[in-house]
Amino acid sequence: MKFFVDSADVAEIRELADTGLVDGVTTNPSLVAKSGRDFFEVLREICAVVAGPVSAEVTATAVDDMIAEGRRLAQVAPNVAVKVPLTWDGLKACRALTQAGTKVNVTLCFSAAQAILAAKAGAAFVSPFVGRLDDIGHDGMQLIRDIVAIYRNYDGAMRTEVLVASVRHPLHVIEAAKIGADVCTIPPAILRQLVKHALTDKGLDAFLADWKKTGQSIVAG
Ligand code: E4P
Repeated sequence: MKFFVDSADVAEIRELADTGLVDGVTTNPSLVAKSGRDFFEVLREICAVVAGPVSAEVTATAVDDMIAEGRRLAQVAPNVAVKVPLTWDGLKACRALTQAGTKVNVTLCFSAAQAILAAKAGAAFVSPFVGRLDDIGHDGMQLIRDIVAIYRNYDGAMRTEVLVASVRHPLHVIEAAKIGADVCTIPPAILRQLVKHALTDKGLDAFLADWKKTGQSIVAG
C-alpha cells in the first residue's frame, strides 16, 4: 500500500519524506487555508520535495472552469494530480483532463456508486472519506471493502486506484492495508503514530541498559 501525506505543511512533508516512506501528497482547500500560504508557492515546494503524485484541488464548480483550473494546476509540475469533486461536472472535468494526459483524483466519494462513476470517468484515483462516514455513524471501511471488491471484478477495465482518505487513526491504516487498498493518505500526526509501541520503547530501554553493562562499543570495539 502506498503512503501519501495528507497535508499542505511543507516542513512536515519534508520531514516525513526524509524517511523514504512517502509516495505522494494530498492537499485540499482547507489544508491550504490552514497553511496560511500562497497555494501555488506551496504546491511548487511540495512537488519538489516528493516525486510521487501531489493532489491539488480545483475550487470551481462548473466543468469548463474546473478544466481551466485543472490545466493551470497541472502546469505547476509533472507530478501534480488534479483533484475534482464527485459531481457530474467533476466527472466531466475528470474525463477531459484525463484524456489530455493529466492524472485526476476524484474526491469527496461517499458511496460505491460514486466510485464506479469515478472509474468510468477514467480517474487515476478515487478518494473515499472513511473518517467523515464514521463521524455520521456509517462504516467508512466497509465502503473501502466494497469499492476494492467492485474494481477487482473489472480488473483491467477499472484501473482507478482506491485512495483511502479522511484517515483519523492508525486502525484505519491497518484496515485499509488488510483490504488491499492501493493508497492511504495519512495526516502527519497519524503517520508518526504508526511507529509507536510501548513494548518497543520498553524493550529498547532494557537492551540499551544491558549493553551499557558490557562496557563494549560496536564501532570502536
Ligand atoms: C484527502 O484527500 C482529503 O481531502 C482528506 O483526507 C480529508 O480529511 P478530513 O475528513 O480529515 O478533512
